[in-house]
Amino acid sequence: IARGTKAIHPTGSTVSTWDRAQAKGHHGGVFWMTGLPGAGKSTIARAAEVQLFSRGVDVSVLDGDTLRAGLCSDLGFSEADRRENVRRAAAVARILADSGQVVLVALISPTVADRELARQIVGDEFHEVFVDTPQATCESRDPKGLYAAARAGKISGFTGIDAPYEAPAKPELRLATENRDAAASARDLVTFIAETTALD
Ligand code: PPS
Repeated sequence: IARGTKAIHPTGSTVSTWDRAQAKGHHGGVFWMTGLPGAGKSTIARAAEVQLFSRGVDVSVLDGDTLRAGLCSDLGFSEADRRENVRRAAAVARILADSGQVVLVALISPTVADRELARQIVGDEFHEVFVDTPQATCESRDPKGLYAAARAGKISGFTGIDAPYEAPAKPELRLATENRDAAASARDLVTFIAETTALD
């Protein structure tokens, strides 16, 4: 193939977005949950998944640890690898949202620039959700013992300790989890999703 000749030809769906939404009873959307390690992203996403499913919503979860066990198993935690992790998650989320699903993405996605990349890839259906848990709380929970390991110098480049986390300035939704259990935060998220994806 000659240089400059386009060798890939992406196709678009001929099933209309409107027909999909009518069939499912809701629009698709991506709810991008960012926050520190141990903030509760995965727990809240899984609780919201159950609540949405029981309401008949077509929902899926893209979780950092799960993606890293498969699609992203070649990636580590360097800046470049985290960016690639975010890019892949956003690309998959876009496909699922285009098929009419509500997609909950639970990724640290530590930088404003990476989340902007995700927003660009997903488009109008992107909604940023900040799982806002103070670092001291995340560290006292330390469900995987990783803060302790990072403090002890056993792992390096750990978000919040020796790698940055940039909190979103203007998320579409902020879940302040400090005095709320995961089920309550999930209910707040589900309420927001129901408003955002409702048929007109
Ligand atoms: S990222 O930054 O968005 O690419 O991270 P993500 O894919 O969400 O993966 C985060 C989980 O990986 C574990 N882990 C680390 N996190 C941050 N920094 C370092 N160095 C690291 N090493 C392993 C950690 O358990 C994260 O889980 P959560 O659920 O966020 O606590």
